[in-house]
Amino acid sequence: MEDIYILGIESSCDETSCSIVKNGCEEIATVISSQIAIHSSFGGVVPEIASREHVKNITFVIEECLTKANMTMQNITAIAVTYGPGLIGSLLVGLEAAKTLSFIYNKPLVPVHHHAGHIYANSLVKKMSFPLIALVVSGGHTELIYMKEDYSFEKLGGTLDDAVGECYDKVARVIGIKYPGGPVIDKLAITGKPTYHLPTPLNDDSYNFSFSGLKSAVINLAHKEKQKGVELNKEDLAASFQSVVVEAITKKTLKALKDYKVNNFIIAGGVAANKVLRNRLKELCIENDIDFTFPEMKYCTDNGAMIAAAGYFAYKKGRIATLDLNSKSNDKLN
Ligand code: KG4
Ligand code: ZN
Repeated sequence: MEDIYILGIESSCDETSCSIVKNGCEEIATVISSQIAIHSSFGGVVPEIASREHVKNITFVIEECLTKANMTMQNITAIAVTYGPGLIGSLLVGLEAAKTLSFIYNKPLVPVHHHAGHIYANSLVKKMSFPLIALVVSGGHTELIYMKEDYSFEKLGGTLDDAVGECYDKVARVIGIKYPGGPVIDKLAITGKPTYHLPTPLNDDSYNFSFSGLKSAVINLAHKEKQKGVELNKEDLAASFQSVVVEAITKKTLKALKDYKVNNFIIAGGVAANKVLRNRLKELCIENDIDFTFPEMKYCTDNGAMIAAAGYFAYKKGRIATLDLNSKSNDKLN
């Protein structure tokens, strides 16, 4: 069978990235240009600045990726691109680049949902076995997804308000940590103790999550301690917050794993880089005899490799778009 090389483009938020992946599982080359340093002083991603940075970087990133792979566009089978969800102005930059390449080189254009990308970052680790449950935990989403087979997605539940990554970033801001706060909270929590009492989010029988109450509780706590002139212990607050988050996610995940009796569980998205969450979910899978897959750290946050990997499976399913494909700031994964 002829090898399939997918060129994947990602620009949904603050990373401009391009990657070439062979047969959906072998990474040939990846280039990521991150804007974190630019947005960090603003406390979060500024959409207008993000789009402008993507415009500046996109052609260099694609060219560099091809050079790194020692390939030309002639060697590429199809072009996969994140069409949504994400920041509309940012998405448009990657999408227009992908459409242009598709038109000029007469290559199929494969539309990829950003979450499908996060999920398929796992296919770069090992072959995914079905049926499986995927937990997508990122800056924009928190979802439990059932996959009966390749490129079939059934949402079981999701956050009713804030995404878990967004909550990490807001809590970090309260204690004076710059964007993105998730990785710093992860580090601080290692030395802290969960001494602060925080409410358990949405402790019900659904597969849904809710993190806004927890976020408000941290903001109120910080405010009260400030009024009392008491300095917050950052490490302990990080550990307290993280233990509540991890337990809430673990509880809903366990319910889904038991109800759907799957033998493979995968995690995806920026928050999947969280060490405590990974370890807790790993323990859970061992206890329940379920195969656990997680992406390499560098492929947890946004990158083109995950889009190229997902693009391969979308391409195999015949998901080819026409050149009038538009970006969508919000779209259901299906
Ligand atoms: O998937 P991603 O790169 O972008 C979106 O699609 O949203 O995720 C970014 C999010 C940020 O909120 C960041 O704080 C969080 O992932 N994050 C983490 C960790 N590393 C990144 N959250 C907790 N622990 C981490 N180690
Ligand atoms: Zn993402």
